[in-house]
Amino acid sequence: MAIDPQTYTDLTREDLAHLLHPQYYAPDHQQPVIFDHGEGVWLTDLQGRRYIDGLSSLWNVAVGHGRGELADAAAEQMRKVAFTNNYVGFSNVPAIKLASKVIDLCYDNMAAVFFTNSGSESNEGAFKTARFYWNLKGRPTKVKIIARERSYHGGTLAASSMTGLPVFWKYFGPLVPEVVHTKKPDNLECDCTPNTDGECAHWLEEAIKREGADTVAAFIAEPVKGAGGVWTPAPDYFAKVREICDRYDVLFIADEVITGFGRTGYWFALQRWGVNPDIVSIAKAITSGYIPMGAFIVSTEISEALHDLPPDARFMHAYTNSAHPTAAAVGLRNLQIFEDEGLLENATKMGERLGEGLQAALGKHPHVANLRWLGLIAGFTLMRDAAANTPYDASETMAIKVQRHMREQGSLITRVVGDNVLFAPPLSINGAEVDQMVASAAAAVKAVTGS
Ligand SMILES: Cc1ncc(COP(=O)(O)O)c(C=O)c1O
Repeated sequence: MAIDPQTYTDLTREDLAHLLHPQYYAPDHQQPVIFDHGEGVWLTDLQGRRYIDGLSSLWNVAVGHGRGELADAAAEQMRKVAFTNNYVGFSNVPAIKLASKVIDLCYDNMAAVFFTNSGSESNEGAFKTARFYWNLKGRPTKVKIIARERSYHGGTLAASSMTGLPVFWKYFGPLVPEVVHTKKPDNLECDCTPNTDGECAHWLEEAIKREGADTVAAFIAEPVKGAGGVWTPAPDYFAKVREICDRYDVLFIADEVITGFGRTGYWFALQRWGVNPDIVSIAKAITSGYIPMGAFIVSTEISEALHDLPPDARFMHAYTNSAHPTAAAVGLRNLQIFEDEGLLENATKMGERLGEGLQAALGKHPHVANLRWLGLIAGFTLMRDAAANTPYDASETMAIKVQRHMREQGSLITRVVGDNVLFAPPLSINGAEVDQMVASAAAAVKAVTGS
């Protein structure tokens, strides 16, 4: 049921006056879509319009909307107790069970979980843990973090500093020191198959050599760069990263805030290639966004070091709401849905349907380049001339026009970054809904590019 136009106008005015949104820019909020409710992959706004949630509301709602069992899990746990302190000497059952479950599902070498409230906090904790670990090992000079260009690691200052997208830095500096980014080495000659954005593992090796391995604590990377435009790795990229990190005694932090819990058809993305990181950052799909929660997960080696601290070195990292019992109860119930409904298998199947559908509809389009997908995450790049690799001028905002068309004509909400159009629907999506996404994207590209 749609609300009356005056109520919408009043809410819009109130929103503009009092609500500061992430990545705020007031002109974006003159005529906002104000969401009301959701069911499965579908969202309905206050004006009664329905949309496919083509990016799972920021890579978040893995099991889809409207899951009463998750509301029940939260209510049941809240009725038992509001919250309990998980600091020194206290714990709670849902958090203990969820930590064990996550360790069961995660990489073979993982041992322990520190719960957070967001992906940014997870990466912040991973960063601090890497430094802490090297201090415990008697190597206090190993403090630098190497991150990648076009990566996104979150909004806290350390996470923004690791993020490789300069647009997130403007006016916030100085950033956290001792964070560096990989860049294309001069005169690089190698026979690596590059990732879809052109990077290869030698960029990391060059960065370690440039900085000096004795100064480097960790390398952080998303298995698929998400918010930077959906860039998928070459199949052997992460095995090479692992080998380089081992060779130079550098910890490898996998930022799986997007890819953790099924997005690529595996519980964790590097399982596809049999690669084990040292620390894993997660958030989002652990609770499918029904309630905020994240975590960083550490290997047996790091866990053992944390279990065996010298008397003067407590691990003084903390968040009040770490291991919140309500969030943990929702997380447990959410992962049960994954297993009951075979969502990893569905992600693989629907991911193929989405990728192949986009390929059939747009693979030879003169203005579409670099179509890529892995599991149920996909993207393509709009170009003035795809064959000649000639980009559009930024001022043409082609992807924004495609996004608007998809939303207004095709009932599809997703995200664009530069000229890249991104897709990551709920893992519970069905074939007809995938086909509708593809049709909507193809129609929008045709309408906007004129071919
Ligand atoms: C890969 C990655 N890391 C970290 C974050 C930050 O997570 P949050 O927004 O929950 O703090 C995000 C958010 O999209 C992300 O995509």
